[in-house]
Amino acid sequence: MSRILVLYDTHSGNTRAMAEAVAEGAGSVAGTGVTLRHVDKAQPSDLLEHDGIAVGSPTWCGVMTWKLKKFFDEAICTWGKVEDKVGCAFSSSGGLGGGSEMTCLSILNVMLNYGLLVFGLTEYSAPGVTAHYGAVAIGEPDGDELAACRLLGLKLVRHVQRVKGEQ
Ligand SMILES: Cc1cc2nc3c(=O)[nH]c(=O)nc-3n(C[C@H](O)[C@H](O)[C@H](O)COP(=O)(O)O)c2cc1C
Repeated sequence: MSRILVLYDTHSGNTRAMAEAVAEGAGSVAGTGVTLRHVDKAQPSDLLEHDGIAVGSPTWCGVMTWKLKKFFDEAICTWGKVEDKVGCAFSSSGGLGGGSEMTCLSILNVMLNYGLLVFGLTEYSAPGVTAHYGAVAIGEPDGDELAACRLLGLKLVRHVQRVKGEQ
């Protein structure tokens, strides 16, 4: 059984729509338990209790929201206890070139510090749409962007299974 946490922040719902698609993709693999959690409801123990962690944020000034950064700062009690879990990122920005990939990298940066194994996608969910640094969307995610989110969730489970020696 793989346990996946999809942790997100959102203000106008765009990143939540992406989070739901990531959760759907992860949940499409039999034997996977998925927790979809807004950062306001998240506890540091959530990091301990899951094998794979997808974190999504609106792009705010090119990085994750302060709420997500605060969560990871306050979850430092779990530092050193979450190594070998698998992590990935996703973000919705206001515009093309607005910093969504940098926001994904800001999330992956924290994950690396925590010792998580992080990944991006090589696949294209549609012509011209990929998620090399995590899934991205401009504003409300369209069908192709949601497909990338679902693929990200699916790959998260596959990588967790590999790390756990289940595949
Ligand atoms: C405080 C703040 C900072 C923002 N900074 C950026 C930015 O740097 N680049 C950008 O493209 N959009 C920026 N935006 C727009 C949001 O990233 C965009 O509207 C996003 O789709 C919101 O996602 P949400 O619906 O999950 O809150 C910003 C919005 C706010 C409120």
